[in-house]
Amino acid sequence: MAQIKVGVIGCGVISEIYLKNCQMFGMDVVACADIDVERARSRAAQFGIARACSVEELLADPEIEIVINLTIPNAHADIARQALLAGKHVHSEKPLALNTEEGKALVELANSRGLRIGAAPDTFLGSHLQTARKVIDDGWIGRPIAATAFMMSHGPERWHPNPDFFYQPGGGPMFDMGPYYLTALVHLLGPVRQLAGIAQTTFAERVITGANRFGERIPVSTPTHVTGLLQFEQGAVGTIVTSFDVWHSELPRIEIYGTEGTLAVPDPNYFGGVLRVRRQGAEQWTEVAPLFGFSENRRGLAVADMADAIKTGRPHRANGELALHVLEMMEGIHVSSASGRHYEMTTRCERPLPWPVGFDEEGVRLSFFHR
Ligand SMILES: NC(=O)c1ccc[n+]([C@@H]2O[C@H](COP(=O)([O-])OP(=O)(O)OC[C@H]3O[C@@H](n4cnc5c(N)ncnc54)[C@H](O)[C@@H]3O)[C@@H](O)[C@H]2O)c1
Repeated sequence: MAQIKVGVIGCGVISEIYLKNCQMFGMDVVACADIDVERARSRAAQFGIARACSVEELLADPEIEIVINLTIPNAHADIARQALLAGKHVHSEKPLALNTEEGKALVELANSRGLRIGAAPDTFLGSHLQTARKVIDDGWIGRPIAATAFMMSHGPERWHPNPDFFYQPGGGPMFDMGPYYLTALVHLLGPVRQLAGIAQTTFAERVITGANRFGERIPVSTPTHVTGLLQFEQGAVGTIVTSFDVWHSELPRIEIYGTEGTLAVPDPNYFGGVLRVRRQGAEQWTEVAPLFGFSENRRGLAVADMADAIKTGRPHRANGELALHVLEMMEGIHVSSASGRHYEMTTRCERPLPWPVGFDEEGVRLSFFHR
């Protein structure tokens, strides 16, 4: 069967790993575009992609069926909308949009046109989070009653060449890193019914210490220390803290507490890592061997899954409903902080389908692209 043809819009830092992985999985990336055409040319040359072009040209190409949207957060919704209006399926980097209203409009547009929409992160498809899901679903920690998630850092201005967007609306630690943690929690525990948040903007500006713009000051227009409390439909209570203000911390990344034990889940910003379980009465933690592939950086895996889902007519895993629910959680935490009141969620989603046990990179190459 002919491969689904893919176009990439946004050829910055993250496009490199996407292109590498898309090619590794056997996807046919035929064009890439950027507002800065030089960047598109450079990525096209690096990966042997036939065409580097403008966004308009890419969207006008009738061959391209899926657009991968790797632009900066405040361009995500606009590019996704344009792609859908051009009749293309779209997978965006996170967040899906800057607010729930915009996100809902995108999901509705996609549904009304029979097109797929999806968004990062796809790290929940990695070996650690898929194995964690199986451990929970098979009852090893009993009924989950609570979860904690902590992302403590001092921001990306030490390493990112253009860190401005991290400190604008759509950035900040919750919109930038929250998607990894919240998507992981929804994947493990299901949707959230109600939440509350308190957020603060600690520093009015940040100083870039990365090499190319060393010493430059950038203004901060979004909260940089954001805490949230989550009531899952299933009954568990979650606590999340995301920060760009903390120099050092020894807090874990994610822990799930059940009636019969605790599961310690490694960093959801990555695909792999050591998963540990400790059941009631156990003297120590036990490492759980991964039951799936995808322990290396496999960003772009969700696009491969979407391509297969289109061909076979099944739901794709990193889907619009999931991304929209996570987007509303992030916005809701900020809304609750500003209003001083709890926030009732208006969206919900199903837990995404887990992989079949043992599924790995070879499975993607064989079953997704060579049916
Ligand atoms: N850098 C990372 O490690 C990383 C990791 C995971 C996710 N992400 C996400 O990926 C996205 C991109 O991040 P990045 O680090 O690659 O940023 P970047 O600034 O390096 O690249 C973004 C690219 O998009 C282009 N662009 C911006 N607006 C555009 C528009 N309207 N039309 C066409 N092109 C446009 C820019 O010219 C730039 O080349 C963000 O949403 C970010 O959260 C980044």
